[in-house]
Amino acid sequence: MAITPEATGERYLSYWLKSAEPTGYQPPDLDIDCDLAVVGGGIVGVTAALRAAELGAKVALLEARRIGSGASGYNTAKVSSLHALTYTRLISIGEETARAYGELNEAGLAAIAGNVERFGIECDFRRKPNFTYTEDEGGVAAIREEAEVAQRLGLPASFTASTGELPFGVAGAVRFENQAEFHPLRYLYALAAAASEAGAALHEGTRVVSIGQGEPCELTTESGRRVRAGHAILATHLPILDRGLYFARTHAERSYALLLRLREAVPRGMYLSDESPAHSLRAVPTADGELFMIGGESHKAGQGDAAERYRALERWARERFEVASVEHRWATHDHIPHDGLPFIGRLWPFADRVLTATGMKKWGLAMGTAAGGTLADRTLGRETPAAEHFAPERLHPVAGTPSFVKQNADDGFRFFVDRLRKRGGSSALRPGEGRVVGSGLGQRAVYRDQDGELHSLSARCTHLGCIVGFNTAERTWDCPCHGSRFGLDGEVIEGPAVNPLEPKA
Ligand SMILES: Cc1cc2nc3c(=O)[nH]c(=O)nc-3n(C[C@H](O)[C@H](O)[C@H](O)COP(=O)(O)OP(=O)(O)OC[C@H]3O[C@@H](n4cnc5c(N)ncnc54)[C@H](O)[C@@H]3O)c2cc1C
Ligand code: FES
Repeated sequence: MAITPEATGERYLSYWLKSAEPTGYQPPDLDIDCDLAVVGGGIVGVTAALRAAELGAKVALLEARRIGSGASGYNTAKVSSLHALTYTRLISIGEETARAYGELNEAGLAAIAGNVERFGIECDFRRKPNFTYTEDEGGVAAIREEAEVAQRLGLPASFTASTGELPFGVAGAVRFENQAEFHPLRYLYALAAAASEAGAALHEGTRVVSIGQGEPCELTTESGRRVRAGHAILATHLPILDRGLYFARTHAERSYALLLRLREAVPRGMYLSDESPAHSLRAVPTADGELFMIGGESHKAGQGDAAERYRALERWARERFEVASVEHRWATHDHIPHDGLPFIGRLWPFADRVLTATGMKKWGLAMGTAAGGTLADRTLGRETPAAEHFAPERLHPVAGTPSFVKQNADDGFRFFVDRLRKRGGSSALRPGEGRVVGSGLGQRAVYRDQDGELHSLSARCTHLGCIVGFNTAERTWDCPCHGSRFGLDGEVIEGPAVNPLEPKA
């Protein structure tokens, strides 16, 4: 019986994936020599490939699965420089850094708007105000401060006591004008077609498993093809190379999305609640009328009960809106940097020829677009303004921040304690259920399929060895440490792992 993630997780494919014509780029049938190898076909990789190809570079893009099958095809698709309450935090690093962050995101938003127009992309790109609101009087001062700081940094910000269209009152909100929303995969697929048109060679089903840092860089794919490239951009969400310890300088946070049919008028703005966990709201035009999206219930990836989080999200929605039905549901995760800034630049401490962008903290559409362009320019020796603020080699004192300490202590705890656990057996498993069984290093990830057959894999994540857990909704094996996910057949769904879970008798 086939137990691919698509077969088991059909119900949880994002609306974006279900409503865009799929791509069909083939794996390479020969080794490749090129100026630039882009690894990963999300917003960062595709944008970089297009930019470099348009500037005359010979580009090969290598995507492990399908273009847009990572976070870029599973998000809430707001294109904005208002990111919860970011600027009051960043200003403590420095006013220039906070300003550069705002400008980076506004530049990404403008680049997306420019591409939509230049290539005539039909992706429901709509200009909207974006709000971060609080329902709590006690939260108003922080909201007001964020609006003031953002205004001072030159962003289109104001404080308001009303969001206009939400069916419940708010105590206060930051409002950013002229932000946008779109269909991220219709955009990304069209961008990939433009990159191909500009001469980039796009390859799907092509997982890169190693990168040599010589001159040229030599990449090897899972099927054994070699790619020699003057430069490489690792646009794999989190870099698949562990040098630079990006997995320890970020943590992976997973959140859930529901696309709802409402019995009432659909609010037209974009909204994010300033609460923990936050909730994200926006309208979505579909062939079947205007629907309403709610995202939220985030937790550290691999550590929540997914089925329960979907239920909690639906409860939250029903308490506030007249929900007629839940039409689609999906989840994804993103990497949250401990100092609040993305990493964009050379893969420090690696050779200058390998670059990366990661740590987009659930706001990688505008930011990732700007990052993709910046990285392509860097490989071609072009100036990239304000790059030092996001350089991976920056030395902010993150090692002492509560987030750094908490997340890395948690990873260490999971690494050691999960190994010592004694678990039950697999006899009580019902069809469709999975569980980690056994003890110590011999722990196995066991799934019983609908025909009653057991499928057994090593439970040790092939990244750094944490013990995976069963995702009760999507039916995948998720690592609690740095976000790797595996299908029921052990195949890698999301990295940083590059190798599958080993089958075990
Ligand atoms: C719930 C949620 C909601 C979000 N909503 C928004 C939003 O409203 N607005 C916004 O701006 N951002 C949002 N984001 C964040 C945004 O989706 C991400 O920041 C962004 O998509 C990251 O893009 P990427 O290109 O870095 O990664 P991805 O899109 O994940 O692309 C990486 C690609 O690399 C491929 N890959 C991995 N390993 C290999 C390998 N070894 N070889 C070859 N290919 C490989 C993967 O298959 C994948 O396709 C949200 C995130 C979450 C979690
Ligand atoms: S993702 Fe790092 S150990 Fe699993």
